[in-house]
Amino acid sequence: MTRTPTPADRFSFGLWTVGWQGVDVFGGAVREPMDPVEAVHKLAELGAAAVTFHDDDLVPDDATRDATLARFRDALTETGMGVEMATTNLFGAAVFKDGAFTANDRDVRRYALAKAARNIDLAAELGATTYVFWGGREGAESGAAKDIGAALERYKEGMDTLCAYVKEQGYDLRFAIEPKPNEPRGDILLPTIGHALALISELEHSEMVGLNPEVGHEEMAGLNFAAGIAQALWHGKLFHVDLNGQHGPRYDQDLRFGAGNLRGAFWTVDTLETMGYDGYLHFDYKPPRTEDVEGVWESARACMANYLVLKEKAAAFRADPEVQEALATSRVAELSQPTIGAGETLADVRAESFDVEALAARGCAFERLDQLAMDHLLGVR
Ligand code: GCO
Ligand code: MN
Ligand code: MN
Repeated sequence: MTRTPTPADRFSFGLWTVGWQGVDVFGGAVREPMDPVEAVHKLAELGAAAVTFHDDDLVPDDATRDATLARFRDALTETGMGVEMATTNLFGAAVFKDGAFTANDRDVRRYALAKAARNIDLAAELGATTYVFWGGREGAESGAAKDIGAALERYKEGMDTLCAYVKEQGYDLRFAIEPKPNEPRGDILLPTIGHALALISELEHSEMVGLNPEVGHEEMAGLNFAAGIAQALWHGKLFHVDLNGQHGPRYDQDLRFGAGNLRGAFWTVDTLETMGYDGYLHFDYKPPRTEDVEGVWESARACMANYLVLKEKAAAFRADPEVQEALATSRVAELSQPTIGAGETLADVRAESFDVEALAARGCAFERLDQLAMDHLLGVR
């Protein structure tokens, strides 16, 4: 197995990731702006398959829009890179200080819809198949400021309107909602995978809306990312994924994939590889402010290499005969067996006599199983 990525690995990066200049709440830029054309060339050289962008990353102003798009298209053609996803910046500008689709101010909501629709046109034109909605400013810092029920109605209205637009235009585009618990708002609407899934089930065109969960966002909420995406996959809703690293519940760190919770990353890769996810493996991280441009490319390379190493380790874990025996001892496959057999009824189950003490005495042997995974991860097996 190789740890050098190729386009067949389906890795993609946001222009805003390697292009992050390091502006944070305490300090200004530490790196020069990155030309999207340079990003496309360098990422192609490193083995990525595609890039993604916010409208404002690629075409920040109308005066330069056509020229920028012409150069960008040339770069895609020269490198064979694709655009697999696009999204709208509905959080950076002052106008979105109280949100976009759920701003109290109706004029702001109308402007947000127009901005999103315009970039949906560009996304379709560039061949993207996923359009992400991260509602970073959809939320509040205080209780009375936001009527949550009304905000969810407006969220639904926004998604329904844009879904109808995509269908009307005949674009081959699906939507993916990205949950996050907080930051930049004190509390963000649709804070977790579960909240977003529940909203999706209320949408007019729910079949074309899924999720773009991010590792760090679920972990900021203290949740298990692998378990979260496993549920999203079970619902048929894992349309896209944002891979990065996070050290537990604190500010959104957006570390390179594999940094932070390494064991979590192992199970994330195992879940993606064993549960049939076949979308792009998208990195949404921020090269730390300490890095110069060389460090930026080093971290991009590391995101992909870490994924490939973990993929190799997870596959070795699954193929290990001792692991297979341990899985059987732990009755893992037995869970796929229906509790009530074919032709049986609940009455049959009730008529059965159970030796509850004997059942209670059976060990689960999960520790041995987990240690085998750990041994693979640590490279001692
Ligand atoms: C974050 C978010 C953002 C979004 C991106 C798409 O780190 O809080 O992940 O990076 O993914 O802006 O809209
Ligand atoms: Mn993030
Ligand atoms: Mn993200």
